Amino acid sequence: MTENTTAEDFKKVAKTSDVPTGEVKVYDCAGHKVAVCNVDGKFFAVQDLCTHDGGPLGEGELVGSQIECPRHGARFDVKSGKALCLPAVIGIPTFEVSVRGDEIFVKCTPAQVSN
Ligand code: FES
Repeated sequence: MTENTTAEDFKKVAKTSDVPTGEVKVYDCAGHKVAVCNVDGKFFAVQDLCTHDGGPLGEGELVGSQIECPRHGARFDVKSGKALCLPAVIGIPTFEVSVRGDEIFVKCTPAQVSN
């Protein structure tokens, strides 16, 4: 943890069994809509909002560690938030995830966008 991080920054959003491998579920995290993705048993969280035109990424398909926007097909890496193909050119914020036992916690403060 960094010096500004406390356990209270994390919010419990779901149980691990709520987000099966290869699936995405959207949760509220202190006002942020966050898409929680299960990539081969590891959990990642990204903003549920495409930077191209506001598409609901949580309704898109997760292919490996890439999420595809259901509107126009832009893809983002859910680990880094990077935009991987057009029409999106700006990455999406990621959120830190902590799995404690069988519960998923998300830090509700987004990380910096990486592209
Ligand atoms: S809104 Fe996501 S690709 Fe256009």
